[in-house]
Order: sequence, then C-alpha cells, then structure tokens
Amino acid sequence: MTIQNSIRERARLSLGNKELDEMVGGGLLKGTANLVTGAPGVGKTTLGLQFLISGVETGQAGLLVSFEEFPSSLHRDALQLGWDLKALEKEGLFKIIFTSPEVFLGSLKSPGSPLTDTLRALSPERVVIDSTAHFQRLTNDPYELRDIYNTLVNALKREGMTSILLDEAVNLLAVQEGRMASLPFVVDTVILLRYVEVDSAIQRAIAVMKMRGSAHQKEIRRYQIQKGGIKLGEPFTGREGILSGMTHRIG
Ligand SMILES: Nc1ncnc2c1ncn2[C@@H]1O[C@H](COP(=O)(O)OP(=O)(O)OP(=O)(O)O)[C@@H](O)[C@H]1O
Ligand SMILES: [Mg+2]
Repeated sequence: MTIQNSIRERARLSLGNKELDEMVGGGLLKGTANLVTGAPGVGKTTLGLQFLISGVETGQAGLLVSFEEFPSSLHRDALQLGWDLKALEKEGLFKIIFTSPEVFLGSLKSPGSPLTDTLRALSPERVVIDSTAHFQRLTNDPYELRDIYNTLVNALKREGMTSILLDEAVNLLAVQEGRMASLPFVVDTVILLRYVEVDSAIQRAIAVMKMRGSAHQKEIRRYQIQKGGIKLGEPFTGREGILSGMTHRIG
C-alpha cells in the first residue's frame, strides 16, 4: 500500500443530516458496525430508518431487519415521519425483512439459505438490525451471547455492509450483566440516545461514546424527532449529570 493510499480518507456514509454526520467525524465509516442504544421510544428506529433512506437517496440499497414491530405499525409510524416505506420498497433499493433472531442468525451461518439469497439479490450497502436485544433470548450464557454478536458483526462486515445495530437500554451508565457487557466492545461505534430531565421537562440527548478509527464530537447534544427524522439542537452547555438523566446547572 502506498503512503497516499494509507492516508486517504476512508469512505463515509451519511446519517441523513449534516449535523449528525459532524458528530461522527463526517459520517459512519464504510464497512463498520455501529451500535445505537437507548430507552424505549427515544428514537432508535427513527435514526436507523433515516440512515437507510439517506442511502437510498444516493443510490445505495438499504435493508431493515426487524425482529419486533408488525409491518403495519412500522409503515404507519414511518409515514408520521414523512417516509413511505411501501413506495420505497417498490422502487427496489429498500427492503424490510421481518424475521426472528434464530432464522436470521441461521442464515448468516449457512450461505445458500433463502434469506441469504434475498440478501444477496438486494446487495445492500446499508443494514439496520432492529433490535439486537432479541438475541438475548437465544441464550443465558454471556460467552455464547458474545459469540452470537461476533457472528452477526463479522457476517455483516464480510458482506461489506455498513450496519447500525439498535439496542435497548434502560440505564446506560449502570454496568449490566451479559449482553451490555459485550456488545459495545464488539462494535466499532457506540451512539447513545437518552432521555434527560431538565427543569421538570423531558428532553432528548445524543452522544457518541466511541468510534474506532475516527475522531468524533465529544459534546452531548439535544435533539428532536420531527418529519424527516432526528434534528439536532444545542449542546447541553452549563449543565452536568446529563448522562445520568438528571441534570443540574453548573455554578
Ligand atoms: N412526526 C413526529 N413528530 C414528532 N415526534 C415524533 C414523530 N413521529 C414519532 N415521533 C416520536 O418518536 C418516538 C418513537 O421513535 P422510535 O420509534 O424511533 O423510538 P424507538 O427508540 O425505536 O422506540 P422502541 O424502543 O419502542 O422501539 C415517539 O415516541 C414520538 O415521540
Ligand atoms: Mg424501535
């Protein structure tokens, strides 16, 4: 490899708006696995869809693997955000697969399964898994779970896909047994979405906790969910304790 090549910027994939991209050093690095973790309703699926749709707009195929929502409720919720997923699927660069963690994992391990064929036919550059929390019920053994996460992440990388793995977290600062101990270590990037109580009202906060191979912003930013997805607001300047969920003013 020449010096020119080694210092050349790696390709980056947009999260759907400029400010979000700036938080992750200009976009997610191509071919990486990226974790988005947060409490119920905080905006995980929204961010995942926003990432996929941003790809479709630039000609990159996107796949949503959903273990949870019924197709009808996912389509309905997405319409509220201004995205017609059915129409997008018809156009051919976007697909949603509703499956179980067992079937999905099995297909990753055995190339040639019907699901793998579907995957190869679409050949998505971007993939979102909603959500990895469902892999927990496959085993009670934390070592086996870590193996499952490794299988998942390695398979996505082998196919050259850039992925966002959505995960459910209740208390992000507390160390949890098993899965929470392993998943953030297996992925390249960890993005936290949080509810924060500020002056007796709930706001939403986003922070990038780690990003392998890239600089990223260290600020904790406010955000809102609106048509088009996540829109960033001001950083929480002059406050501390944001990641604990209960903030107070400094000084
Ligand atoms: N059009 C909209 N305008 C404003 N806010 C919206 C709009 N559509 C959705 N929301 C907000 O987005 C939230 C749900 O976001 P989303 O489904 O992405 O969260 P999630 O983290 O995936 O939730 P879950 O853990 O239940 O899967 C809703 O609770 C609502 O507050
Ligand atoms: Mg969701």
